[in-house]
Amino acid sequence: MAVKQIGNKWTKTHLLKSVLWFLLHFIIFLFIAATLLLWDRMSQIGEYMNERGADYLYAIFCVLLLVVIMYVYFFVEDKTMLMNGKNISLLFTVLDVYLVLACLLGYKVSIYARPVALVAMLMFVLVGRREAIFLNIISALLIFVIDTFAMSEAEVSTKECYSSLIIAFSAGMFAIFFAGKARTRFSVILIGIGIVIPMDIIIFLLGLSKLVESGVAMETVTESPMLSIVTEMGFGLFGGVLSAFIFLFILPIFEGIFNRLTVFRLRELTSSDARILKKLKAEAPGTYNHSMMVAQLAEASAAAIGENVDYARAAAMYHDVGKLHYPEHFTENQGDYNLHDELTPELSADIIRSHANDGYVLIRSHRLPEFLADVAVQHHGTMPIRYFYAKALKMTDGELNIEDFSYMGPKPQTKLAAIIMICDAAEAAVRAVNARKPEEAEKAIRAIIEERMDLEQFSECDVTMADLTKIRHALVNALTGVYHHRIKYPNIKYRRTENGTRGESE
Ligand SMILES: [Fe+2]
Ligand SMILES: [Fe+2]
Repeated sequence: MAVKQIGNKWTKTHLLKSVLWFLLHFIIFLFIAATLLLWDRMSQIGEYMNERGADYLYAIFCVLLLVVIMYVYFFVEDKTMLMNGKNISLLFTVLDVYLVLACLLGYKVSIYARPVALVAMLMFVLVGRREAIFLNIISALLIFVIDTFAMSEAEVSTKECYSSLIIAFSAGMFAIFFAGKARTRFSVILIGIGIVIPMDIIIFLLGLSKLVESGVAMETVTESPMLSIVTEMGFGLFGGVLSAFIFLFILPIFEGIFNRLTVFRLRELTSSDARILKKLKAEAPGTYNHSMMVAQLAEASAAAIGENVDYARAAAMYHDVGKLHYPEHFTENQGDYNLHDELTPELSADIIRSHANDGYVLIRSHRLPEFLADVAVQHHGTMPIRYFYAKALKMTDGELNIEDFSYMGPKPQTKLAAIIMICDAAEAAVRAVNARKPEEAEKAIRAIIEERMDLEQFSECDVTMADLTKIRHALVNALTGVYHHRIKYPNIKYRRTENGTRGESE
């Protein structure tokens, strides 16, 4: 799912702009619908309008009503969606794409051949679960309005209109229930096939009811009406699978145009084939391994406090990419020779602390998501670089400004940045000390968190004491799991006897 934008305050300008955006998209939606429905009648449009004027007004008013409900829903539930024109365009473009496909396939092929789960799947991945459920209802109702309007021309029966409504709604809901588990393209296609089951049952029962209605007794059902039911069920299967394929095709386009981050995009970003990570692996293998470890800890911490695990993983993988500028100046990439032996403590501290900002610049220059850059620049906050400060103290009798030996910040601004700050330090501490026993790990992590609290590193983010406690527990569990002691198995000697194999302790 996509990250919620942390918006500014809602103002009258936002209200005016969002209403205008909605109006514009409402007109575009009507224009597309009218073009699709009236394309064949363009020559006698005046006559047609006179004939069906009331129907037009009815359909336009229904669409307007649904658009107003959409606006009020987001106004009450999530104003951040209305604060950005791109978000509004995203909602309507998803609906417009579905409208085009639903009309073309529904009226030219079969009403059951529509990609019924498309809106739900796109909204779930691009925006969120709640918005997906809501838009699924709206899209099903919008197409129902269009169906009832188009009924006479498109040879669609009333029953088909209603069954199409229930199919669109239920297929979308099933897609949303399962979409949370979708991590690969194959699983998306499986969802497409899975949602077909309830659809096909409805199509089958409706087909039977049509047969009975037309006076054909069940026992005299010939092959051809049954064949038409099977064909329609086949269209249902086609619609389900088509939802998955169009979703996979269209998703990267939507991600790009509307600048949305999805689990699929995050997966690409955190795979070892991602450009910066590949470079990190080759040029700073120690940092790469450290980042992988931090990612494991960050995932556990994020899960413990209800933050997005995929974002935590990605942020951890990229938090130290700024070390690519001088990889050999960081302990994890050094061999026996320490380059800092030749440098003044001031210069060493300068090189070390620059990796936070270098990471920010590198991530932004690769046009990667902003939150990765933010975490990179914030993950050390304004913490002092203790080693070089102590080294400098030994070399001087005068006063030293600790700020010259501290990271330049900013401090973590989000819970995610706070998680990475703690996990980064926890991973380094565990490597340095023998914190493999739960009580040792607990002591080390408690010290890390307390030190950062004393230095007010969490003063600019909304991480709570309860969160910090949960993170500590999660880290102890994760660390003692990762660096666990081997269980001592009793030594047992096995020997074969006449009654089978027997074990005896030595
Ligand atoms: Fe770092
Ligand atoms: Fe790090």
